[in-house]
Amino acid sequence: MDERPRVQDLKLIFKILAYALGIILSLWAVTVFYLLNAHPDITWDWDSINTSDIHFPSSFAWGTATAAHQVEGNNSNNNWYQWEKAVDENGISRIHNNDSSAMAADHWNRYPEDILLMKDLGVSHYRFSIEWSRIEPQKGYYDLESLSHYRKMCLAMIKAGITPVVTLHHFTHPIWFEELGAFEKETNTEHFTKFAKLVFEELMDIVPIWCTFNEPSVFVAQGYFNGIFPPGKKDPVLAGTVLENMLNAHVETYHLLKAIPGSEKVKIGLVKNIFQFDPLRRWHLLDWAFSKILNDVYTNAPLEFLKTGKSSFYMPGMVDNEMLNPEAPGTLDFIGLNYYSRMHVKGRLNPEEPFVFDTRQQDIMTDMGYPLYAEGFYRALKTISDVGVPIYVTENGLADDKDTVRPLFIERYLYALNQALKERIDIRGYFYWSLMDNFEWAEGYSMKFGLYEVNLETQERKLRKGSQPFIDMVTKRGSDERGYLVRIGETAADFTMDYTTGEQVKLSDLRGKVVVLQFTASWCSVCRKEMPHLEKDVWQAYKDKGVVLIGVDRDEPLDVVLKFQKEMGTTYPLALDPGANIFGLFADKNSGVTRNVVIDQNGKIVFLTRLFEEREYQEMIKKIESLL
Ligand code: FCB
Repeated sequence: MDERPRVQDLKLIFKILAYALGIILSLWAVTVFYLLNAHPDITWDWDSINTSDIHFPSSFAWGTATAAHQVEGNNSNNNWYQWEKAVDENGISRIHNNDSSAMAADHWNRYPEDILLMKDLGVSHYRFSIEWSRIEPQKGYYDLESLSHYRKMCLAMIKAGITPVVTLHHFTHPIWFEELGAFEKETNTEHFTKFAKLVFEELMDIVPIWCTFNEPSVFVAQGYFNGIFPPGKKDPVLAGTVLENMLNAHVETYHLLKAIPGSEKVKIGLVKNIFQFDPLRRWHLLDWAFSKILNDVYTNAPLEFLKTGKSSFYMPGMVDNEMLNPEAPGTLDFIGLNYYSRMHVKGRLNPEEPFVFDTRQQDIMTDMGYPLYAEGFYRALKTISDVGVPIYVTENGLADDKDTVRPLFIERYLYALNQALKERIDIRGYFYWSLMDNFEWAEGYSMKFGLYEVNLETQERKLRKGSQPFIDMVTKRGSDERGYLVRIGETAADFTMDYTTGEQVKLSDLRGKVVVLQFTASWCSVCRKEMPHLEKDVWQAYKDKGVVLIGVDRDEPLDVVLKFQKEMGTTYPLALDPGANIFGLFADKNSGVTRNVVIDQNGKIVFLTRLFEEREYQEMIKKIESLL
């Protein structure tokens, strides 16, 4: 019998293969199409955005942040000190350039000077961490002098008008705790909670905001997965355990501290770092798959746990750790967000290294190798808002030795922050990382994150030019709850406006009269509702008695405004306001249009309304009458 495949058989096999390939490719295409639509790559057209055209609420907390080991100097009793002295298998230092933290920025001694630097920036808050190894250098032995040092430091801040914000664990802990197995063992948690309680009782009367842990996900990823932070392990299962133990330690600490009388007034939260993991090749399913796994394990799992008390630390084939703690929900008075950038993930068909991080050519990079991605900050704020508690941005900044990217970074990231606020995400404050250059962990002193540059030899601090946009925003006038930038009693800024008739009027030329500026627009239904009332109660009633009522139309062309005026049938003058620049003198341009500003005969602002509220409107009429 002839066993050679016949031509027809081969043809059939090819047909089947081609068919199968077609199905696979179509499924691939459909899935990628779905993913592209479900998760668009959010990028903004920065050329068309004016990043300076924003305002923050005047109640917004502006601050800077540091961490003990990175700035204090002379910390020689913690896990990082050990790590700085250790070498890897090849005898090479664990720290870039063989650096060690050593004297760092000598903040332990120079804090009075550093508080003055904060004042110069105009900030009102300072986030720093308490070095556990100073407070409890040996197990059960407490150094009360160190504790009182931190109290002195907080009192000095308060005296200078700076609110202290404390972090209890920022990557470092005493050597004895590391030797006990640190957070690898659940039973070790009690050592941390004891320390936390001691510090809390000492400072709770003067420190209103507390962070239990800084970035458990970073601590775990770098110390137990990548092995580049102490204890330098690469063990995904252990990583899962440590994360679970740290999150549980947060929960326990929260309950313990909140049981202390007087602690109701104090806010306690945890600091979560978010890096988005985005596919490098948006058409590649492997890149999507690994991005999803990483986002889940790094961000979604811990957030889910804090919100519901239940989630799992899962990486296929590596680790599946179910986390469950019914006590977890409700243990956040706020959540801290540390945001820097995103990572691009490239999947590989290599079981040894199934994914790598890669960069894209078109991105502007910072010295840490992170792309400038302010849109990601906005995304992270949205993600973290899902936990349902107020947010503080506890860290955001960049390493930029040449100081060339810093201004752009600050402008864009603050704009993104403002966008999130505009969407009513409950963000209470922002802490810039960092006040000054410091010891950047495995990167040593090579990364320059400071608003102030530090000369490590002389300890001289110098403000970086590129920090200016931060100062400008911090010192810029904030808006009140109604979006007003002006306050009653102030003199109104002068400006010139064009009436629809072509006539020009300068506000200061109207001195001696009561001026009512009505901010309006043709698309504004509340304004339309109010206008006939203003016509009757202000214009017709007082136009001959020293009152000028002017409708200031927000950023519409003359023909639209003329039509609007005709439709309304009002007879008081309407003025044009291109770019809403007149509006912007009085209120945040991002806030609602309907408002009246009453200015007295001397040019002082005497009444401000928002929306068309009957009571407020009547009070305004009375105010006008009283001026005549
Ligand atoms: C964060 C750390 C902080 C600092 C910045 C650059 O992950 O919390 O200590 O190193 O990164």
